[in-house]
Amino acid sequence: MRTMCEQIHVMYTEEEVCERIRQLGAQISEDLNGEPVKLICILKGASFFACELAKRITSPVYMDFMYVSSYGNGTESSGQVKITKDLESSVEGENVLIAEDIIDSGNTLHFLSQEMKDRGAKSVRICTLLSKPDRRVVEVPVDYVGYVIPDKFVVGYGLDYAQKYRNLPYIGEIEFC
Ligand code: IMP
Ligand code: MG
Repeated sequence: MRTMCEQIHVMYTEEEVCERIRQLGAQISEDLNGEPVKLICILKGASFFACELAKRITSPVYMDFMYVSSYGNGTESSGQVKITKDLESSVEGENVLIAEDIIDSGNTLHFLSQEMKDRGAKSVRICTLLSKPDRRVVEVPVDYVGYVIPDKFVVGYGLDYAQKYRNLPYIGEIEFC
């Protein structure tokens, strides 16, 4: 067992996160130039982010959801990615935008962007709320990043530690004490 107590230190307030997502939405809208997009939310972590982002995109947005797992209940990636809930619709011929909470090792997004290409997507863009470049094992071209952060374990705004803290309205660093 890892810990007796957990403390959360605010990294980005709710207001800051909302403003950053608004900026990402504006940039994505400009790049899409009115073309429709299929926004793929990677459950569960990206759910808050994907919904907020969808509201800020001015092109027609079609949402679909996918559940992939590469993590156990700890803070280390298992390295293996599996789809545990697939999309309900085809992405063939579509502009795909993958919304992810955080890119860490890169395994998840590397796998997913390849998977979308294999399924015949017309274009594949990646948008992640957070990126921890120091942890990268596989290089993945990410089109939009909310915040680049150091190698800290973060929670809130959809991100969890052992399924806890997703509902925090802000992003915080967890300290195990
Ligand atoms: P990757 O495949 O190693 O890039 O891992 C990405 C996934 O790991 C994310 O979708 C998160 O679910 C999880 N993850 C990585 N770092 C953190 C963190 O700091 N807090 C919460 N979840 C994380
Ligand atoms: Mg995740």
